[in-house]
Amino acid sequence: MTTTDWTSWHDAYSRPGSGLGDRLVAVRAQIDRFLETTAPAPVRVVSACAGDGRDLLGVLAERADAARVTARLVELDADLVAAARSAAAALPAHVEVVQADASRSDAYAGAVPADLVLLCGIFGNISDADVRATIRAVAQLCAPRAEVVWTRHRGEPDLTPSIRAWFADAGFEEIGFTAGEGATWSVGAHRLVAEPQRLQRDQAWFTFVR
Ligand SMILES: C[S@@+](CC[C@H](N)C(=O)[O-])C[C@H]1O[C@@H](n2cnc3c(N)ncnc32)[C@H](O)[C@@H]1O
Repeated sequence: MTTTDWTSWHDAYSRPGSGLGDRLVAVRAQIDRFLETTAPAPVRVVSACAGDGRDLLGVLAERADAARVTARLVELDADLVAAARSAAAALPAHVEVVQADASRSDAYAGAVPADLVLLCGIFGNISDADVRATIRAVAQLCAPRAEVVWTRHRGEPDLTPSIRAWFADAGFEEIGFTAGEGATWSVGAHRLVAEPQRLQRDQAWFTFVR
């Protein structure tokens, strides 16, 4: 059961010193690099627990080739879903924002296999066991050589060394890891090098504990 007001949580993006603005820059840089390296091919993106979608939508708003992107954003909070839909409506990309439980595999049916999977703002809010289970399952969302961009704070005990090892165990190679200087945020990017897996329906991968 989550107790956090996630709409207010987003206010920290504009609060100097929160680190969230710097983390956003790092996430957007990974998304932009992905779009640059895959251009001009059409690409599919899924974002789990997408919030107001400002990471992906902010990048698409700056790109002339946004129309080649088809995306599904999955978010539970109605206000954040509305904000994401409003931002997406201004873009030529094909963005669907669904109000659904992103921990359930069924939320992705019809939107995968994706070339880019965003897992941002999740790993700090679920148990370590669920982080591991989600990493084990993420190949079910992936097209061949898909990339996954994820975030996790590095507060003690720092889970990021384990997360990076778990991605390797699950058949991913690391293509980036950025840790905020003097801050605890970090952003990782991994590419699937093993075979993708078929989406298994009716599975639950994580539970928010905050
Ligand atoms: C830390 S915020 C991250 C938002 C966004 N990904 C970002 O990085 O700015 C976590 C988000 O997950 C959403 N959330 C929590 N549990 C969820 C669930 N089971 N399914 C979908 N969204 C969920 C919250 O409403 C919140 O918007």
